[in-house]
Amino acid sequence: MSTKTQFGSKIGLVAATVGSAVGLGNVWRFPAEAQANGGAAFLLLYLGCVLILGVPVMVAEFALGRGGGSDAVGSFKNLGAGKHWWLVGGLAVIASYLIMSFYMVVAGWTLEYMWQSVTGALYAPIEGIDSLRGLFQTKMDSYVVDDLNPLIATWIVIAINIGVLMAGVQKGIERLSNWMMPLLFVLLLVFMCYAMTLPGAGDGLKFFFNPDFSKITTETVLKALGQTFFSLSLGMGILVTYASYYPADTKLTRTALTVSLMATLVAVMVGMIIFPGVMSFHLEGEEMQGSTLVFVTLPEMFAQMPLSAMWSVMFFLLLFVAALTSTISIAEVSVAFLQERFGMRRLPAVLTSLLPLLAVSSVCSLSQGSLSGFTVFGMTVFELFDYVATNILLPIGSIFLCIYVGWFAPKGMFRNQITNNGTIRSRMAPVILSLVRYVAPLLIAIVLISTFL
Ligand code: PHE
Repeated sequence: MSTKTQFGSKIGLVAATVGSAVGLGNVWRFPAEAQANGGAAFLLLYLGCVLILGVPVMVAEFALGRGGGSDAVGSFKNLGAGKHWWLVGGLAVIASYLIMSFYMVVAGWTLEYMWQSVTGALYAPIEGIDSLRGLFQTKMDSYVVDDLNPLIATWIVIAINIGVLMAGVQKGIERLSNWMMPLLFVLLLVFMCYAMTLPGAGDGLKFFFNPDFSKITTETVLKALGQTFFSLSLGMGILVTYASYYPADTKLTRTALTVSLMATLVAVMVGMIIFPGVMSFHLEGEEMQGSTLVFVTLPEMFAQMPLSAMWSVMFFLLLFVAALTSTISIAEVSVAFLQERFGMRRLPAVLTSLLPLLAVSSVCSLSQGSLSGFTVFGMTVFELFDYVATNILLPIGSIFLCIYVGWFAPKGMFRNQITNNGTIRSRMAPVILSLVRYVAPLLIAIVLISTFL
C-alpha cells in the first residue's frame, strides 16, 4: 500500500483502542471475579497486574505495530525479524479468530436481551414459576440452548461488523468508536448516580472497597493476571494492528496508560454499580459466576426497580456497545492480515474474514444447544475455542512477543518507538524495557504453566 491507513485523530485512536479493551471482560467478568475473590483485594491485585504487566506489554505491542507498520504477522516481517518470528504473529491471528468466533455469539446474547427488554418479553411471567430467580434462570437456560434465536442474534452481530469494517478504519471503526465510547461512559454514569441512591449503596461500596486479604491465594493472583490479559486485549494481535494505524507522533506510553486506565475505570465503575445494587436487593448470596450475573442476577434486580424496562434496556445496550467495539477490533486483525499479506482490497478482505463466521460462530452457538453432545477433551466447541485461545495461544504468543521486542528487535527499535525517535523524553522507557524483557515473560510463563498443574 502506498498511502498507509491511519486513524484520523488522537481522540479517535484512543476511543478505538479503549473500545477494544473495554469489553465483556471488564463489564461482566470483572465484577464476578471481584465478588468471588475478596472485593477490593482483587481490585488491588488487578491494578498491580495492570501496571507491571498490562501497560508494558501493551507498549511492546504498540511498538511492534507502529514500528513494523503492518498486520500482526507483517509487522515482524517488516522489521526484518529473522527465521520464524512471524509465527508469533500467526499465533495471534489464530487466537483472535477463535476468540472472535465465540465472542460474536455472546455479543448476540446481549443484543437479544436488549431486544427482549425493549419488547418486555424478558419480564413476562412463566406459568408455574413464582420466584424471580427461577424465572430468569429458566429464561437464560432455554434461550441459550435454543437453536434458532441465538443464531439469528449472532448473524446480526456479524452483519453489523461487516458493515462497520467495510466502511474502513477512519470512516468505520473510528467513527463508530467516537460516539459509542462517550455513550458507554454516559450510560455508566447514569447507572452510577442511580446506584448511589439505593438503600444498600453503603454496604455495597464497603464490600467493594474493603479488601478481604484472606481470600487471596496463589489462584487469585493467577486469576488477576489472566483477567488483566483478557481485559486489556493483550496477545490477540489487536493492539499491534491498531498501532500500525497510529500516526508517527502518537505517544505510545501515554496512550497505553490512558487506555489501561480507562479500561480499569470502567471495571471499577461497574463494580460501583453492581455491588450496591446487589446488596440493596439482597442478592449477594447468589451465585454470580459465568453468565449468571448478567443474565439472571441483574434482571432479577431490574425487575424489582421502578422503571425496570428502562434500566434493563440501558444495561444491555451498555453491554452490547462494549461487546461490539471489541468484536470490531478483533475482526480487524484478520482483515488487516488478509489485506497486507495477500494484497486483498478492503471489501474482499472483510468478506473473506467474516463470512466464514456465519458457519464457525454458528457451530459455537449451537454447541450450547443441539450440538452440546459433541465434545473434544470433554469441552464443547465454544469452550474448546475459549480454552485453547485464552489459556494457551494468548500466553505463548505474548511471551514470544515480549522476548522479540525486548531482545531481538532491531537495535533501538523499542526505544525509538517509545521516544518517537528521540523527540520526546521518556523517563519510563528503561523501566518499561526491563519489564518487557524480564518480568512480563516470566509472569506470563507462570500463568501458562499453572494452567496445566
Ligand atoms: N478486552 C476485551 C474484553 O474485555 C477482550 C476482547 C477484545 C475480547 C476483543 C474479544 C474481542 O472483552
